[in-house]
Amino acid sequence: MRTYDLIMKKRNGRELTAMEIDYLISGYVNGNIPDYQMSALAMAIYFQGMTEQETLNLTKTMINSGETISLDAIPGIKVDKHSTGGVGDTTTLVLAPLVASAGAPVAKLSGRGLGHTGGTLDKLESIPGFSTDMTVPELVDAVKNFGVAVAGQTGNLVPADKMLYALRDVTATVDSMPLIAGSIMSKKLAAGADALVLDVKTGDGAFLKSREEAFDLARTMVSIGNGAGKKTVAVVTNMDQPLGKAIGNALEVEEAIMTLRGKGPADLQELSLYLGGWMLALAGKCSEPEEGRAVLLEAINSGAAIKKFKELIRSQHGNDAVVDDFSLLPHVENQVKVKSPRAGYVQRVKAETVGVAAMTLGAGREMKDSKIDPAVGIILEKKTGDRVRIGEALAVVHARDDASPEMVDAVEEMVLTAYEFSNEPTETADLIFGIVE
Ligand code: URA
Ligand code: CA
Repeated sequence: MRTYDLIMKKRNGRELTAMEIDYLISGYVNGNIPDYQMSALAMAIYFQGMTEQETLNLTKTMINSGETISLDAIPGIKVDKHSTGGVGDTTTLVLAPLVASAGAPVAKLSGRGLGHTGGTLDKLESIPGFSTDMTVPELVDAVKNFGVAVAGQTGNLVPADKMLYALRDVTATVDSMPLIAGSIMSKKLAAGADALVLDVKTGDGAFLKSREEAFDLARTMVSIGNGAGKKTVAVVTNMDQPLGKAIGNALEVEEAIMTLRGKGPADLQELSLYLGGWMLALAGKCSEPEEGRAVLLEAINSGAAIKKFKELIRSQHGNDAVVDDFSLLPHVENQVKVKSPRAGYVQRVKAETVGVAAMTLGAGREMKDSKIDPAVGIILEKKTGDRVRIGEALAVVHARDDASPEMVDAVEEMVLTAYEFSNEPTETADLIFGIVE
């Protein structure tokens, strides 16, 4: 086999065999195929696409490039949930304890935030003492004992993705459907869950701006998951405006706690119940997602959900008193209201702009090794569909106490530009666009 011939084969739009894909990916990981040839192949895939079979084979080969995690020692069906990334997406913080409190084991590997999207690990680590640094045996033990654990990337999972993603990032080949699907699914499947619920986000704050592309990715990932023998469903959801009211790490922990008490923002609660209902159904805890939703509501109302969150915090060495006393979470005094320049109705709150504003405050990372500040962020007082009076607060900016006034002004200005208004009453935004089973 010659790499040159395989690049040409894909460039000409022909289907690569499993053996050929394996040769290319393992050759790249072993250092036998140089970056420039892999770049050319990625560009050929970008233009020619891949068949379902090719995408499945690519995913399997990527999984085999490194270690995989086995959760077999944990009894029951383990369901994982993955979001393609959004702004203020607090659902994992809600779902992990919520679903576990209903009896389904949750072993979650999560990531850190990059760019304008937040990461679950950063949010949890804003709880004093909380550690996400766990070995695989520690993760398995914690789930056996407490029904839930949330850990950082542990072990050497899918090195092929680390290499390929870095290459795609600098060769304009990130937004290729088969390459995205292979990248996400290889990591999810290597992490050992038996079933998967995928939240594919679309809209201004998401990585896929169009609904069509999101459904395309959803279908591709579901076909890979099922092809690999794991029950997989994908929900396509709206990320045009941030989810919930809070954007920022400790602020989102507060929001998750409120939601686990049944007092959170309506959209965050709704999405959590919807995704969680599916998780319970795939875990065999109920026959229909609708029934799962009712079970979860009951867990919120009975206090079981918030009790499970305290257990999760304690088992990962955090101070669980934060649940009853938010003053134990990092916070800032420097809180600035962003006032509405006009009366009317909110038509849109552009998620990406709010995400960038939060990142500028220090809630997110501009570069991989930027330091984040757990206390800072933005609270949206008004969202799509809300009526506003002139001078009323649209949002509150939480800035570092030593932040420069120029920076805070710039952030306020950014938040203002995220808002679009209308004179006529506007509709609240749809949250769930559809599901691919
Ligand atoms: N997220 C991933 O993990 N991989 C991609 O290729 C795109 C988004
Ligand atoms: Ca939020």
